[in-house]
Amino acid sequence: RIAGPCSLILFGVTGDLAKKKLIPAVYDLANRGLLPPGFALVGFARQDFGKQAFSKMIKQAAKDGARTAWSETVWKQLAAGIRFVPGEFDDDDAWERLGKTMKELDEQQGTGGNHAFYLSIPPGLFPVVVSQIKKHGLAESSQGWRRVVIEKPFGHDLASAQELNQIVADVFPSQSVFRIDHYLGKETVQNILAFRFANGMFEPIWNNHYVDHVQITMAEDIGIGSRAGYYDGIGAARDVIQNHLLQLMALIAMEEPVSFNAKSLRIEKQKILANARPPARIDLHTAHAQYEGGWAGGEKVLGYHEEAGIPKGSTTETYAAMRIDISTRRWAGVPFYLRTGKRLGRRVTELAVVFKRAPHQPFSKHDVEELGQNALVMRIQPDEGVTLRFGAKVPGTTMEIRDVNMDFAYGGAFVESSPEAYERLILDVLLGDPPLFPHREEVELAWEILDPVIQHWSKQKSVDTYPSGTWGPVSADKMLERDGRAWRRP
Ligand code: BG6
Repeated sequence: RIAGPCSLILFGVTGDLAKKKLIPAVYDLANRGLLPPGFALVGFARQDFGKQAFSKMIKQAAKDGARTAWSETVWKQLAAGIRFVPGEFDDDDAWERLGKTMKELDEQQGTGGNHAFYLSIPPGLFPVVVSQIKKHGLAESSQGWRRVVIEKPFGHDLASAQELNQIVADVFPSQSVFRIDHYLGKETVQNILAFRFANGMFEPIWNNHYVDHVQITMAEDIGIGSRAGYYDGIGAARDVIQNHLLQLMALIAMEEPVSFNAKSLRIEKQKILANARPPARIDLHTAHAQYEGGWAGGEKVLGYHEEAGIPKGSTTETYAAMRIDISTRRWAGVPFYLRTGKRLGRRVTELAVVFKRAPHQPFSKHDVEELGQNALVMRIQPDEGVTLRFGAKVPGTTMEIRDVNMDFAYGGAFVESSPEAYERLILDVLLGDPPLFPHREEVELAWEILDPVIQHWSKQKSVDTYPSGTWGPVSADKMLERDGRAWRRP
């Protein structure tokens, strides 16, 4: 799978995401030999760098973030296709210069009219960029393809997402639109479907006859860092649950797709999202809170309110948890508990399918005191792998039974290394391969699930808190206690 000649035109090239993820991913793809020799990277930014300084900035970002070894030869080849267009997004002259640059690349680099516009910019700027692309006749080409790549957040509620989708749909046909949810680019996330549908032994118990509940956790130990401007007013639920966690839930819960093409996957994911809702009593089945300052990982850390750029009295949540019920024959009665937060005990993303207890235990109560419920845990990151927890007899003269783990670890099983999520996704954009990109409908259905929860929270005047370095607020523990369950401590 090697992309043909083309260019990637990056809006937001000086931003955090571009520097940390996108530019290194492009370098790694080049280093792995997956980009064509004529590949070009065009940066469009307000700040005027000058050609040399721009190239230097890209080189530094690539060097700092690359996962593969540094090679001057690969860099020189990549550098030959790097261009910079300075200008404001609403400046017509700048867009004329961009159009000219694209034409020059077609002649000099052989990109053949194939160009992908990558919008790594705040959603408020999408309308002006998309309409400029159209106005300057850059959205289509008689020679090659044109694609647009859109980063999250994709709106802040259903209405704004629909509006954005319409703006994009007025300029690009749906097959040319690639919405990024970088979790779908992760190896371990793609493995969910391999695990479920390539094997015969899991699917028969993957339903409400055997599954008690599912826990989906995306915990981070870091705070919001320098992202106050982005984060405040968005919060944990919009930042992570609307996209990453609901996508994970759809993959865990969906029926087997007819095939692995984008359309079949979308149809099955949509059925789950369309049938998923928080329970009516949102107050009892969700929790949200902000981190307090204190000690985490042996370091003194700031509370959310003390972070630079956070307005006084902000009630934006840095932790969010919610129960989701899926009304289908397979899942009726099985709660899906989703949680995410910053400054928690450790960085971990996992999916835990927790099974019902055996219907009968022919052991004395005392012997099974330490026996929990069977659980299948997919570790998305770090320590990528799968763990099966079940009971085993403790060696000795009694029939005591305790939980043990059976482990599969990527590191131990494969010699192949995992590409970074953005490498995979950028390559798929350049190849025009859509299965790993959420469709418009999925994005809107996810907002439909989240909107009532966020509306409910927004009516509250104050927000709960939790100490940094813990597993979140007491209210989240209570939420599960009411259902007779407890959160895992990964
Ligand atoms: C992003 C969120 O989508 O995912 C960030 O905006 C979060 O707040 C990040 O830190 C986590 O990604 P990963 O790949 O490190 O789990």
